[in-house]
Parts: sequence; structure tokens; C-alpha cells
Amino acid sequence: MQDFRPYTFEDWKGGARSLKQEFDYLIDDIEGEIPPELNGTLFRNGPGLLDVNGQQLHHPWDGDGMICAITFSQGQAHFRNRFIETEGYLAERTAKRMLYRGVFGTQKPGGCLANAFDLRLKNIANTQVIYWGDKLLALWEAANPYHLNPKTLETLGIETFGGLLRKGSPIAAHPKIDPGNSAQASRLVAFAINAGLISKIHIYELDSTGTVVQHLTHRVPGFAFIHDFAITPNYCLFFQPPVSFNPFPYVFGFRGPAECIQLQANRPTRVWIIPRRKGEAMQVLETDSCFVFHHGNAFEQGDEIIVYSVSYQDYIGLDHKRGYPHNTDFINH
Ligand SMILES: [Fe+2]
Repeated sequence: MQDFRPYTFEDWKGGARSLKQEFDYLIDDIEGEIPPELNGTLFRNGPGLLDVNGQQLHHPWDGDGMICAITFSQGQAHFRNRFIETEGYLAERTAKRMLYRGVFGTQKPGGCLANAFDLRLKNIANTQVIYWGDKLLALWEAANPYHLNPKTLETLGIETFGGLLRKGSPIAAHPKIDPGNSAQASRLVAFAINAGLISKIHIYELDSTGTVVQHLTHRVPGFAFIHDFAITPNYCLFFQPPVSFNPFPYVFGFRGPAECIQLQANRPTRVWIIPRRKGEAMQVLETDSCFVFHHGNAFEQGDEIIVYSVSYQDYIGLDHKRGYPHNTDFINH
């Protein structure tokens, strides 16, 4: 039997190269027909720049965010892509050299002497894109969202939720939409983590205009490395894996902070069940040690909460040859 594959290894390798060009064109290479009733824009975010002026990043997740938008209208499709012009992206483009280390292990040229004690984080805005409250926002979990023009993809600046967030305040990259019901309108539920010996979990609920209508803060013991959460009509669910963080390889310029995390196999993963209504007490459950990056879904059934999660026996390796697809949003207009 003939071994036919519709791709080559070179095709796959293309995913690990920078896309430096910004495009803006009508897609004319289409098989079949685009249904004329399909109208809207599919947005996608992900690392677009995998080198800085020729110096390869250690891991794709350290790459500057690029938004791709495919707009469907009247049976046609239009493609546009643009870099998110974050402060760090613009600074490195001007300097024509790498100025920042990466969370996932990218180091500036010059060895540990050039990297030690440089603990600045570059907001690369590369993890998620959402459209809420008439705003297109590019998210990265350790700093503010970036606000973009949904038509031109022009970067408009950092988002502060009406002044609530200071510059550098994190918003995690996986907010969830509560579609609401007859009693309550839809909301966007977002969260942020301030990790430390005692970690803070911030939960923001935004109404359909993008206004923060509730901000609750909870404290949980231990270092909280939480990338995603799940919601139900009444609860937010956070899985806190038992990780240890040894900052020294990061501080002394050998590793990125995400490479300094280890999962402890002999301690439980905690599941925090946090009521969305203010004033109600949170509960905690414990399960076997596991690392959780993403959740599938959660819902309430009688007095039970069901949550679907992807759990790993160990923390992910940061092998730079592995990437993972990230996120999209689709708006109708
Ligand atoms: Fe993610």
C-alpha cells in the first residue's frame, strides 16, 4: 500500500518558525463555497515570533503574541494578522536584540551573568484572545490584557478594567462565559493569581458592557500555580497542584521561572470550591497528587458539582519542541 501523507516534515517545522510578515488579503484559494449566511470573525492568538532578531527562543510559549483574524462576509473570507504591539515587543523591535528573559526558559545572550537578577517579565500577550464588552482583548496570565481594535487588530494599549487593575496586574488567560439565564444576564468570569507563601485568588465578574460588577479576593495557603479554572452557575473551581517553587535557578540566570516548578507526588492536589456569591464560605477537597492545566467543563447536578479536567501525573516538561495549540474566539457581527 502506498504511504501517502498530505504533509511533509518541512510543513510541520513551519509551525516552529517566526511569522514576521503581517498580511491583509481576501482569501481566494477556497475549495467549494463559503455559505453566504456565515458572517463573523474568527480570532486566534498565539506566539508569532519565535526568535528575536535571529536569536531563537528556548520555548514557543515565550514568543510575542500575534493575532490572526479570518472574517467571513457575503460568501467571502478575509485574512489579517498583526503582532500585538506590547511594550516589550516594541522595545525589542527598536533595539534589534533580545532585552527580556522568558518565563519558559529563554535567556538573553551572554550567559548567566547577563541574566542574573533580571526579574522583569515581558508581557507577551500570546495566550488567549476574547471579545467581551465590545472589546477585543489579548491575554497572557502574568500581566494586564492588551486591548486591540477588532477590525484593524491595531494595539490600543493595556486594559485596566476601568482603572481596577494597575499596570502589571495579572489576569489569567482562561476567563469563562456564564451564558446567564432568565434571572441573570450573561457575564464574563475572569480570575487572577498572586502566588506566594499564601496565594491570592482574585475573581472578577464582568457584565455585558465589560464593567466589573463583582471582585472577590480569597487567600489559599501555599504557592498556587493555577492556569485555568471552571465555573458553574454558583461556583468557581480551582485545582491547586502541590508544587514547589525553587527561585534560585531563575534569580541567578540559569532557568526561566516556569522551569523552577516541581510537582510533589506525596502531597494532595487541592480543589477549591469558591461560591460566586459574596459572603459565602469556600470549601476545599483533596485528591491524589496531579497537575492540572486545563478544564473541560463543569456543571451542577442536584447537590453535586461535576467537573471535567485533564490531569497529569507530573508537571509538564518544557521541551521546546513541544507546543500546544491555544485559543480562539468567534464573534458575530
Ligand atoms: Fe491554556
